[in-house]
Amino acid sequence: EEDSRIHDIKNRIRVVPNFPKPGIMFQDITTLLLDHKAFKNTIDLFIERYKGKNISVVAGIEARGFIFGPPIALAIGAKFIPMRKPRKLPGEVISEEYVLEYGTDCLEMHVGAVEPNERALVVDDLIATGGTLCAAIRLLERVGAEVVECACVIELPELKGRERLNGKPLYILVESY
Ligand code: PRP
Repeated sequence: EEDSRIHDIKNRIRVVPNFPKPGIMFQDITTLLLDHKAFKNTIDLFIERYKGKNISVVAGIEARGFIFGPPIALAIGAKFIPMRKPRKLPGEVISEEYVLEYGTDCLEMHVGAVEPNERALVVDDLIATGGTLCAAIRLLERVGAEVVECACVIELPELKGRERLNGKPLYILVESY
């Protein structure tokens, strides 16, 4: 049952070669969202894993963590916080830089959105190098939260992003090579 749900989810992800630049195999989840059953199964698999785990906050990473995070948060009784690219959040923020292939980028979180000792789940669509999730983990730990797990729909295992998460568990539904 779980295998057939995951098989269907994998089949609904469109892989677009050479987008947004040559050599990148873009994992497009918009086609998954078009299929009600596959989208619902995606959310349900996360809910089944995290309900009853005492998670008080779901942190979604811009942009596609904003699609998968909120329905999970609502279903498990947690609040939702956005982790955004720089200069998007209006309140006081803390920032974490992370390294990209060329240059750096940054994630920001509102100060006061998470209390010390909260139990957090980080949600995104995909882990590649792991830099983005690593920055999200650091932001939450800086305010004293415990990161219980990171959850993504897709992992690119060849990039070994898992190894950058400082031992934090990572749960994924689909691997893409
Ligand atoms: C993608 C993806 C993750 C991140 C993973 O976002 O949605 O957030 O890259 O990469 P990493 O594991 O190597 O850090 P993208 O950079 O395309 O930004 P966007 O969601 O704002 O389009």
